[in-house]
Amino acid sequence: MHFAAFALVGESYSDPGKYFRNNTCGGLNLVEAMKEYGVKRIVFSSTCATYGQPDTMPITEDTLQKPTNPYGQSKLGFENVLKWYAEIYGFSPVILRYFNACGAEGDLGEDHAIETHLIPNVLKVALGQSDGVKIFGDDYNTEDGTCVRDYIHVSDLARAHLLAVESDFTGALNLGTGKGFSVKEIVESARKVTGHSIPSSICPRRPGDPDILVSDPSRAFASLGWKAEYTEPFEIIKSAWEWHRSHPSGYISV
Ligand SMILES: NC(=O)c1ccc[n+]([C@@H]2O[C@H](COP(=O)([O-])OP(=O)(O)OC[C@H]3O[C@@H](n4cnc5c(N)ncnc54)[C@H](O)[C@@H]3O)[C@@H](O)[C@H]2O)c1
Repeated sequence: MHFAAFALVGESYSDPGKYFRNNTCGGLNLVEAMKEYGVKRIVFSSTCATYGQPDTMPITEDTLQKPTNPYGQSKLGFENVLKWYAEIYGFSPVILRYFNACGAEGDLGEDHAIETHLIPNVLKVALGQSDGVKIFGDDYNTEDGTCVRDYIHVSDLARAHLLAVESDFTGALNLGTGKGFSVKEIVESARKVTGHSIPSSICPRRPGDPDILVSDPSRAFASLGWKAEYTEPFEIIKSAWEWHRSHPSGYISV
């Protein structure tokens, strides 16, 4: 299972070479080593960022992939390497395209040195570690003007990996709930979970953020019998909140 990558969209604009070198060329080194040692099965963490901003929703695996940022392009580059290694060398890759990974379970939660993900940043406000949450743009083509995303719990992602590695399936699968929630809806849900007012402010858009990204996860169900168990933001945020409260400084807390 290949999870390693650089995964900051903003940084991928300021230093695209870092992203293509690690995510695409690093992946190429990996499959070359696999070839040398006769390993043909690989489960790869890909991303909905490979789709860019499709014209139609929900996104199926056959939706045209047109990334809108170097990060998504660097992941798509490795997907393409895998497709050719499957055709030429008989590799059997499973490409799992995660939508927005989030949530926590037990001792495992989300802790990045540079946190760009919405839910941990919202919860930092509730923990008193930040004054307010920044909402990047409220003029998107969505009902409340803020970006809509498909939030998938990390335990659901983990379960999909186990099913994938044990299956005979080869190809790409979307991993999402099939439901979209706006940034404002997530902040509101976090207010209910934490009981904190969580002040927010509207800031300029970030480059490369599509209006809406929502999966059609039906192929993962048909192929692996997988579907998300966490489908509501309240439950997802509750799991993250429990972890952040018991790990206020992230993993350093323990
Ligand atoms: N978090 C999400 O919402 C999301 C969504 C879609 C896809 N993904 C993909 O899932 C995977 C994991 O993402 P994450 O959010 O946990 O990111 P992360 O940054 O928390 O984890 C990636 C890890 O890979 C390590 N790494 C990077 N390059 C490496 C290398 N060359 N050798 C060894 N280690 C290396 C990093 O140090 C980091 O610990 C990535 O491939 C990412 O593209 C994540």
